[in-house]
Amino acid sequence: MNLQITSFEDYQEKYQHSVEDPEGFWAEIAQNFYWRKPWKKTLEWNFETAETKWFKGGKMNITENALDRHLATRGDQPAIVFEPNDPSDESTTLTYKVLHERVCTFANVLKKHGVQKGDRICIYMPMIPELAIAVLACARIGAIHSVVFGGFSAQSIADRINDAQCNLVITADGSFRGNKSIPLKSTMDDALIQCPSVKKVIVATRTRVPVSMLKGRDLWWEEEVKTVSSVCPAEEMDAEDILFILYTSGSTGKPKGVVHTCGGYMIYSTYTFANVFQYQEGQTHFCTADIGWITGHSYIVYGPLCYGATTLLFEGVPTYPDAGRFWDIVTKHKVDILYTAPTAIRSLMGFGDEFVEGKDLSSLKVLGSVGEPINEEAWHWYNEKVGHKNCPIVDTWWQTETGGLMISPIANVTPTKPSYATLPLPGVQPLLVDEKGDELVGNGVSGNLCIRFPWPGIIRTTYGDHERCVQTYFSTYKGLYFTGDGCLRDEDGYYRITGRVDDVINVSGHRIGTAEVENAINMHLGVVESAIVGYPHDIKGQGIYAYIIMDKEQEDIDLTRRDILATVTRIIGPIAKPDKIQFVSGLPKTRSGKIMRRILRKVAEGETSNLGDISTLLDPNVVAEIIDGMVK
Ligand code: WT7
Repeated sequence: MNLQITSFEDYQEKYQHSVEDPEGFWAEIAQNFYWRKPWKKTLEWNFETAETKWFKGGKMNITENALDRHLATRGDQPAIVFEPNDPSDESTTLTYKVLHERVCTFANVLKKHGVQKGDRICIYMPMIPELAIAVLACARIGAIHSVVFGGFSAQSIADRINDAQCNLVITADGSFRGNKSIPLKSTMDDALIQCPSVKKVIVATRTRVPVSMLKGRDLWWEEEVKTVSSVCPAEEMDAEDILFILYTSGSTGKPKGVVHTCGGYMIYSTYTFANVFQYQEGQTHFCTADIGWITGHSYIVYGPLCYGATTLLFEGVPTYPDAGRFWDIVTKHKVDILYTAPTAIRSLMGFGDEFVEGKDLSSLKVLGSVGEPINEEAWHWYNEKVGHKNCPIVDTWWQTETGGLMISPIANVTPTKPSYATLPLPGVQPLLVDEKGDELVGNGVSGNLCIRFPWPGIIRTTYGDHERCVQTYFSTYKGLYFTGDGCLRDEDGYYRITGRVDDVINVSGHRIGTAEVENAINMHLGVVESAIVGYPHDIKGQGIYAYIIMDKEQEDIDLTRRDILATVTRIIGPIAKPDKIQFVSGLPKTRSGKIMRRILRKVAEGETSNLGDISTLLDPNVVAEIIDGMVK
């Protein structure tokens, strides 16, 4: 499969072609994949109704592209290299042949328990090969996977399972992360009390902690795979059948189930993988994300495997056993491409250069960054200490909703600039608009980032609630997809993402909805009201600052603080815990009752003057109190 752009001129030509004739452009790329039946129509779209269909009528199965088609040419090459949490445990390699066999076997287990095309399956697992196998086994038989990140609480799992009405769950006894062992099955058991739709639970073993196994419902993975054959023909899918649901937070309400479909997502994740990282045959690609996020879906599992690459799956954390773990993995597995998040870079930077200096990083060719803006200091450290000024850094901007990379340099093709995602990939047509929705033309402008034309990886709907998809992404600016991000286009036409312009906080590259955290806090006994804002955090990018009103004076305010953190952990998960809590007697509200977050944000940032006009506040006195009690 030859999809790669080879020079900047080539990029410019392809980009031009993709704008002038998007359908022709993508149809040509799609020809490189294996289709059982060709598509009838390349593209149908309407941004007013949020309907996009790519390659309609085309019949395929993504696992035939990710597995079967490689068997003849690279069956014995490593597909997945697994690096366990504990470096003294052995790493394992699954060749394409072995992975194919294990996916087919597990797909038969799912079938044996009645799973059919279109059924929703919740996957809640550690970063072990069985997770990738579970994902691919669902895709093999046309079941829709909904992977839930292993750090989410029972309540969050239950919300996701119930929203998608999953009938089967795949989990594990527990997970190893650093020196911790996390009991996944027991969290799942707590969730399932609220989930009547779930009839079967398949449990892989990892930590082998004691787990309760309910007769008639719970099954051991190890036992089940012994009972079925390893031959499983792939289900024939339409390009527009759903491949997966992945929940993500927004500015309002509960997390939305972002829906991606089989054909377009396959083409887009693979095309962007091949190009941006310029993967070469035989290389090892190490994406440090968790498969519980879109980055893992697209750049650990689907993109690399469809391209026939070797993808490294790391179970642990960057700081275990010490802050040199990533570099040890690079040395050990001769990693060529490293794709990680700015928060990880900043955190490792903080441990000191002695963990990276002297490590053999000579195999590295390309470095990637994703999830949040990368500050210049981190960019330079990554470039110098990790890349030895020899590896291009691709700062990749995209979202759960976009399925794949959108604005990003192409390694060794696009000249880079620290903290810039640089230029749109072929097929991506970004524009900046002002508050009124008027397009900002020319260079040297800042505004809200929108996209004016569909690409194959675009979100198809929000599961079970299409209107929400229309409202969230296609209504703010008529006829455009709105990203929720602010962006600068500089004099060279280069794009720099400046961060969310809505009520979404980006904590360590994870999206946290302010409303969600507020709802969790408000569930705590004695809480009257709360308001959440983000503030700049040295390592996490943004931290969570909570302003909370209690019904009465608290005897032990520190204990109350910790109790509230426990509630947030229980309702959402530890990633949503506020970094700072300030108890207040009132919130700055306008006469119509709207909280003026602008003021709260400023105070959280440590800014106490220049708060702007506060005369429209119902009670301007609360501002002085808030400044007074500011948590540093
Ligand atoms: C939001 C999407 C899909 C990547 C993982 C996060 C922010 C993502 C960058 C970047 C600046 C970035 C945006 C975006 N973001 N990549 N390279 N530079 N900001 O996916 O959870 O869907 O979050 O992450 O704000 O909207 P996500």
